[in-house]
Amino acid sequence: MDYNAVAKKYDNYGNEAITDWAIAYPALLNEIAPFDNKMILDYGCGTGKVCRVIRDKGSKVIGVDISPKILTTTQNYDNSDVEYRCIKPAKIDFMKNDHVDNAISAFVFCNVQTREHLELNVREIYRVLKPGGKFSIVNANWEHCNGREFISYKFDSIPSLTPGQRVKLTLKASKNLIVENYFWGEKDYISVLEKAGFKNISVKRPLGVGNNIDWMGEDTCPLYLVVSAEK
Ligand SMILES: C[S@@+](CC[C@H](N)C(=O)[O-])C[C@H]1O[C@@H](n2cnc3c(N)ncnc32)[C@H](O)[C@@H]1O
Repeated sequence: MDYNAVAKKYDNYGNEAITDWAIAYPALLNEIAPFDNKMILDYGCGTGKVCRVIRDKGSKVIGVDISPKILTTTQNYDNSDVEYRCIKPAKIDFMKNDHVDNAISAFVFCNVQTREHLELNVREIYRVLKPGGKFSIVNANWEHCNGREFISYKFDSIPSLTPGQRVKLTLKASKNLIVENYFWGEKDYISVLEKAGFKNISVKRPLGVGNNIDWMGEDTCPLYLVVSAEK
């Protein structure tokens, strides 16, 4: 899916995405805490919203993305101490080997069409991570949510999910955004990470907690999949 075409709408969604902010990003950031004096790569940073949270927590952060238009939305925000770079897929050419302490990638690999490209992306992230550095990925958990509707997402009903299959979901906000993605499940992420050389792979399926949000099932059904691994 080309985010150049929907940059403004995605920026709007990002500011309103209740469960991303309540469940997905806290779970992802929890994987890479603590933040003091670290260098962190946000691969597929989009509008830069997670970069700015990381910056505010005290780390240096570099956000990279393939969409020049979506990177222009970052100019609506305070970019001090955040470096944004436009890249070609799987090519963080400007960055030397073993450079970052951690890498994250939020809702990016669901945009990658083939396993071969998935492997190239993951291998490039492995290259720029320092030995012992942790890479954490978050995506929507299609395997548990196929056909269901939640506060911020409505998943189309797909008769049977196969790796790399085209899937569709609605990102719910004041202006809904329908996105086409590719399905990759838990096993796909694990095998691609292993193939790139990552070890100590862990999988988490965070749930919504607390009564301050009127959950639509996110407190019992794992809407997100968080996969982490070490170089
Ligand atoms: C759904 S948005 C997520 C943005 C951000 N990570 C967030 O959490 O809001 C997906 C982003 O991934 C970018 N993207 C897609 N394929 C990519 C690739 N192979 N390498 C880097 N970025 C990619 C898109 O341009 C888009 O900005």
